[in-house]
Amino acid sequence: MSRQILLGVTGSIAAYRACDVARELMHRGYTVRVVMTHSATRLIAPATFEALTGHPVVADVFDEPERGQIAHIRLAQDSDLVLIAPATAHTIARLALGLADDMLTTICLATRAPILIAPAMNPAMWTHPATQSHVRTLQERGVQFIDPTYGIMACGDEGWGKIADTPTIVEAVIARLSQSESLKGVRVLITAGPTYEPIDPVRFIGNRSSGKMGYAVAEAARQRGAEVTLISGPTALPDPFGVQVIRVQTAQQMYEAVLEHFESCAIFIATAAVADYRPEVALPRKRKRGSRAWTLRLVPNPDILGAVAQRKGNRLVVGFAAETDKVLEHAREKLQRKNLDLLAVNDVLEPGSGFEVDTNRLTLLYADGRVEALPQMSKRACADALMEQVAAMYQAASKAV
Ligand SMILES: Cc1cc2nc3c(=O)[nH]c(=O)nc-3n(C[C@H](O)[C@H](O)[C@H](O)COP(=O)(O)O)c2cc1C
Repeated sequence: MSRQILLGVTGSIAAYRACDVARELMHRGYTVRVVMTHSATRLIAPATFEALTGHPVVADVFDEPERGQIAHIRLAQDSDLVLIAPATAHTIARLALGLADDMLTTICLATRAPILIAPAMNPAMWTHPATQSHVRTLQERGVQFIDPTYGIMACGDEGWGKIADTPTIVEAVIARLSQSESLKGVRVLITAGPTYEPIDPVRFIGNRSSGKMGYAVAEAARQRGAEVTLISGPTALPDPFGVQVIRVQTAQQMYEAVLEHFESCAIFIATAAVADYRPEVALPRKRKRGSRAWTLRLVPNPDILGAVAQRKGNRLVVGFAAETDKVLEHAREKLQRKNLDLLAVNDVLEPGSGFEVDTNRLTLLYADGRVEALPQMSKRACADALMEQVAAMYQAASKAV
């Protein structure tokens, strides 16, 4: 069966360009279903797209072309990718806010397919801080933008805001669809978050990890078609969609859960900030305040990556390291000592590159000695860049077998 693209057309002067995009996608063998906003229907007639695609066009959330089927859910679930081209400033803002006030935005909330957006608008609208902030919000959620180009607009203004050309849009769709297959059915095991090592029933030794990086990696792996198991320490984050989540508290519990699931995985990615030490004794009752000094004796926790390295086989093992000094030196040493294929290291003392924040700056070190410094990006973008490399390494290794 051919793959289905849901093409969203919004109220931009460039709405007519969606006809070309629809035709090109159909030439490539995709089924195209068009959803228009009400503004778009004032600029171009739905009948044009119906004739081009051979399918009814829907605009209103109460439009239900097939009896007995809730159209927005059907379209959300049956589509392999959602492309909005052109996308107005208004629709980008609605998506960033999670509104569901027409058929297109409702589908975008209900779908788990990748979303690509090709904006088209006046340069002042595109560069407006409100629009740019909405774009960043959506990018952090994994939405991909096909950047507008520089040129003279229909209104006569010159600047950034012209919709990308049709071949660029079509290539972006094809690339994204092939990306969503790059780890299809591959079992990926990921650890995330901190661990809590109990001192007594109310106190623990923990660390500042929020889990955001690991959860983003889990989402990026799932979006590439992987079957993802996420072993998570305590976090405030919701379970990522479509991911099996196992919640643990301590390093010992994480160790046991990893060993239980490691056998069946092909790729293991350790992003968790596992406590190296735990109190030797966890007191059964809360320790009361006293006036004397109190010494806690700490004992080492099991080394998860170390244990995994011994059972590695032909699995791909990826580690993370948070360093504060001699970053590359320590990272290289960890890569070798733990027999890793890839290590992502960040300097937690650098602003915007540590715990709890939404951004990170990773440097990737490979077992063959290559080093790749990524720019500071949202954790979601870092996760995508990392998974791109991991998928390429996995495919290269599978071909070599
Ligand atoms: C002729 C015309 C052209 C327009 N072109 C654009 C455009 O290119 N980009 C944009 O963001 N808004 C454009 N607008 C404004 C939008 O149509 C308006 O913001 C509308 O509310 C968008 O609704 P929608 O996002 O639901 O389609 C245009 C309006 C008119 C009347």
